Amino acid sequence: MKAGQPPVVAVDGPSGSGKGTVSRQLAVSLGWHYLDSGALYRLVALSALRNRVDLADADRLAALAANLNVRFAPAGELERIYLDDTEVAAELRTEQAGEAASRVAAVPVVRAALLQRQRDFARWPGLVADGRDMASVVFPAATLKVFLTASAEERAMRRHKQLKEKGIDVSLPDLSWDIAQRDARDANRAVAPLRPTPEAHVIDSTSLPPKEVVARILEWLAAVGVEIERA
Ligand code: C5P
Repeated sequence: MKAGQPPVVAVDGPSGSGKGTVSRQLAVSLGWHYLDSGALYRLVALSALRNRVDLADADRLAALAANLNVRFAPAGELERIYLDDTEVAAELRTEQAGEAASRVAAVPVVRAALLQRQRDFARWPGLVADGRDMASVVFPAATLKVFLTASAEERAMRRHKQLKEKGIDVSLPDLSWDIAQRDARDANRAVAPLRPTPEAHVIDSTSLPPKEVVARILEWLAAVGVEIERA
């Protein structure tokens, strides 16, 4: 038995910064678990939309968050997320779900209801946790804190490409506007606003491929003494 808590790498940043891709690759390369915390907020939003719960009804949203029946496929596998045994990954990635997620994420009781569920993902041999408040709120004692950014133009272009690949046609200016709105809401909300903690390693991925970002994070992990058994 290993003593103490499993190591956690917190990866925070705005939408389109590449943190999903980087965090998944990092989890696979380390053989660690992966938490996509944004998916939990998206699931609460989707569940609210399906059950016709008003996105301003904090108590009902908190009840949905507390009772989410959800299952994730491991990081190295095709993204599959089951809500009440129905596969919903594609539906979760729509702009509508992202927009609704950012609304429910501003509700303090929803964040409180999801806190322990997120902490439960920290299991041996370690966890890569991806989100907005991983370092500041959910895992304040994380082994390593990374804040990933990219220019607003690059983030909108990445998102546009991703949606196009999924056959979803959205105009780039509309998407830039949506992303700017979502970023502003995430950065300015009263609870757990999106911003780097003082001890975070800030990295700009505008012109860095995910592989290189992962390589840097692995170097930082080695520097803080984490024994890396590559998967
Ligand atoms: O990362 P993703 O785009 O899937 O997140 C969807 C929304 O969920 C974000 O815009 C943000 O409002 C919210 N979120 C959050 N805290 C997290 C992860 C996501 O508030 N840890």
